[in-house]
Amino acid sequence: MTLKDQTVVILGGSSGIGLATARAALAEGARVTITGRSRERLEAARRALETDLRTVALDVTDEPGTRDFFASFDHVDHVFITAGVVSFDPKLAPATDAMRPALETRFLGALFAAKYAAPRMGAGGSITFMSGTAGTRPIPGAAVATASCAAIESFARALALDLAPIRVNTIQPGLVDTPFLEAFGDRRAAVIAEYSRRLPVKRPGRPEEIADGVIFLMKNGFVTGTTLTIDGGGLLT
Ligand SMILES: NC(=O)c1ccc[n+]([C@@H]2O[C@H](COP(=O)([O-])OP(=O)(O)OC[C@H]3O[C@@H](n4cnc5c(N)ncnc54)[C@H](OP(=O)(O)O)[C@@H]3O)[C@@H](O)[C@H]2O)c1
Repeated sequence: MTLKDQTVVILGGSSGIGLATARAALAEGARVTITGRSRERLEAARRALETDLRTVALDVTDEPGTRDFFASFDHVDHVFITAGVVSFDPKLAPATDAMRPALETRFLGALFAAKYAAPRMGAGGSITFMSGTAGTRPIPGAAVATASCAAIESFARALALDLAPIRVNTIQPGLVDTPFLEAFGDRRAAVIAEYSRRLPVKRPGRPEEIADGVIFLMKNGFVTGTTLTIDGGGLLT
């Protein structure tokens, strides 16, 4: 039940929930590596974390890159794959290629990470995937992103059996105030206000509140095949 001296890898760790999880894991005494596509964002994260953690520029949809990345570790204890994309596809009108990233980033990113990390992991290790409450309640006009969330939760349950004793879980946040919400463009403030109004807690989540759940999933050796919802009660309303 400790992360002290454990090797924690966060794919998509340079911002938002991933960055908050990196901070929390470092506070627990873990050795942390974060990845993301943008070197500038990784450098900014390193400065924000005020520590000399390992940062690697890597796109989670790059299978050979992911294979080589995990080959650089002797052993990995915990992996969190948080990279994901939301895009809008009302009535599936956009070009098919424009709809691919929402599925490929979340699903193939998780598949590649699990495939190449698992051989370096042992009993007590964990893999945590990222979905969102869209996995349970669809986001109107974002069918592919919605499906990617449901798919990743199902994938985690299947891998919890196939990769055992490695534990595999999914974290399912509601709306969290991070740079991710820039996907809503100039509707960002209105989306936050509207969502907050109907929530029992009356505000969006903070990245630290989701990171807290991820750390729980890493540390608790009895939790596997689970989807942990942290949404301020959003699915109730
Ligand atoms: N914020 C919310 O309201 C909310 C709610 C439910 C679920 N989620 C999910 O939470 C996850 C993280 O969101 P966040 O709010 O923390 O967003 P964020 O602040 O934008 O952080 C996203 C992180 O993922 C990285 N990333 C994105 N695409 C990548 C790729 N193809 N390969 C490698 N890294 C990639 C980003 O770095 P680079 O851009 O440099 O690659 C960044 O480090 C997403 O999967 C999102 O769907 C968010």
